[in-house]
Amino acid sequence: MAQTMRAAVLPEPGKPLVVKEVPVPEPAPTQMLIKVLYASVNHRDVWIQKGLYPGIRPGVILGSDCAGIVEKVGSEVDSSWIGKKVIVNPGLEWGPHREVQSSSFHILGNPTDGTFAEYVVVPAENVYQPPMHLSDEESAALPLAGVTAYRALFYRGKIGNGEMVLITGIGGGVALMTLKMATTIAGNIIVTSSSREKINKALELGASEGYLYTDDDWHKRLVKKWGGVDVVVDGASGPNIPKIIDILNPAGRLVIYGQTAGEIPQLSTAKLFWRHLNILGSTMGSPSDFEEMLELWNEHKLKPVIDRLYSLEEINEAFEWMDNAKQFGKIIIKI
Ligand SMILES: NC(=O)c1ccc[n+]([C@@H]2O[C@H](COP(=O)([O-])OP(=O)(O)OC[C@H]3O[C@@H](n4cnc5c(N)ncnc54)[C@H](OP(=O)(O)O)[C@@H]3O)[C@@H](O)[C@H]2O)c1
Repeated sequence: MAQTMRAAVLPEPGKPLVVKEVPVPEPAPTQMLIKVLYASVNHRDVWIQKGLYPGIRPGVILGSDCAGIVEKVGSEVDSSWIGKKVIVNPGLEWGPHREVQSSSFHILGNPTDGTFAEYVVVPAENVYQPPMHLSDEESAALPLAGVTAYRALFYRGKIGNGEMVLITGIGGGVALMTLKMATTIAGNIIVTSSSREKINKALELGASEGYLYTDDDWHKRLVKKWGGVDVVVDGASGPNIPKIIDILNPAGRLVIYGQTAGEIPQLSTAKLFWRHLNILGSTMGSPSDFEEMLELWNEHKLKPVIDRLYSLEEINEAFEWMDNAKQFGKIIIKI
């Protein structure tokens, strides 16, 4: 095995990533060294590169997701893992409580070195066998977005059989994972997007209808046609949230996992208490969420939506593509 490896390093926040040779890391006793075949981009990587994320470590190797092969294991890890195809739960040290992560929780790919590299070391407890029906590219797409979507829809949103769901910003990686999983349980699935083309693609994947969130009255048209929705899964926050409150059925659940569109403007508290609405935050997921997510994908043979493939050397182009919201699904990096 080579002593150095190619890796995409963030020299400092706001600067483009630099692909260069760095030392191959050594696994600690409870870790595994994984040879990365494919990685995938999450919006988190772009926020970090732009300097819009807390605790950025200059010189860090970004990347939270990968599919790879176990190359080497630490002294306390079962050596039968060596040579196996694996994926990694990028949520490190979630802790003992499913309800909320521990104070030491952190995400692979800052401050810990991540997957945009030929090799990555990860705790053995975070390593899983990928669903057998997925290609390596598809496996690399799944972990971070998949566990975020699973927890938001099932654990926090408590989606029930046949309930009506709204998924906002359907071009996003997490949004499309949510759509895929919602098809296994929901009644009608409504989506929003900035793009009619993306809405049409979502209809082909099982959505019942889509609205352009850039239209002022999209929420009024939704209510007129469908009455309302039971669960909303949203990664945008921002100015559309008061409209989403108007769409929710009584006792409905709005689950927010991101704020791509910024902070939420003033809300009507009367609407919240009179209609018994629930606004819930959700972040990635516990080990149980990750394991249940994998079971669901295995059971229903779900496949993630892949947008396009870039090489490691093209990583800054991949970030730009995401920054401009051009993607429909996950952006994959071939290492
Ligand atoms: N808390 C967590 O654990 C967690 C985990 C993953 C992601 N996140 C956050 O969640 C967000 C999405 O992540 P991602 O990786 O799925 O990103 P992504 O693939 O870049 O998706 C972003 C999508 O947001 C949509 N969008 C932009 N402005 C919007 C608006 N005003 N209203 C509705 N949708 C809007 C766009 O959808 P269209 O292209 O369809 O217009 C875009 O494709 C990011 O902010 C990310 O940091 C949080």
